[in-house]
Amino acid sequence: MAVTLDINGKPTSVQASPDTPLLWVLRDELGMTGTKFGCGMAQCGACTVHLDGQAIRSCVTPIEAVGTAKITTIEGLGGQHPVQQAWVRHDVPQCGYCQSGQIMSACALLAQKAKPSDEDIDNAMAGNICRCGAYQRIRAAIKDAADTGPPMGEPHADLDEAIVAGSGATHRGAGR
Ligand code: FES
Ligand code: FES
Repeated sequence: MAVTLDINGKPTSVQASPDTPLLWVLRDELGMTGTKFGCGMAQCGACTVHLDGQAIRSCVTPIEAVGTAKITTIEGLGGQHPVQQAWVRHDVPQCGYCQSGQIMSACALLAQKAKPSDEDIDNAMAGNICRCGAYQRIRAAIKDAADTGPPMGEPHADLDEAIVAGSGATHRGAGR
């Protein structure tokens, strides 16, 4: 059936059954491969996107549960978002696979709490696993973004195309 989703500020029509996970729609139907598939069971955070500004796991979110909520993906950040810039400054990614999810969780945290404590960061990022162990750099980049970036509002929503090469945050991108 045809479903219209609000993705990165644009109404987007897709053909999918209502119980299709949002992650499948993003990657397979729309070719937006910045959002990653890791575990498929809400255990790793690789698939994190925003629903109305809240970080959610798109692998376990059926499109019927999305309704008219605004979906923001890593592509919607535009590549120059303050958090992405902090990620580059701290050379955060190693393999890069987890990084789009990490960045989306970090953006949701900073939108809610401009100056998060270490505990805030640990709590907000606990569900995002990094097999490369880049946690120290992730924390440093979040603090840097909090210190140097402008207020964290909703990400850019006027992109014409997805930034398909990994997280869009660094020269070391993640593959498909
Ligand atoms: S792929 Fe969704 S949490 Fe792991
Ligand atoms: S950078 Fe490799 S899994 Fe996080």
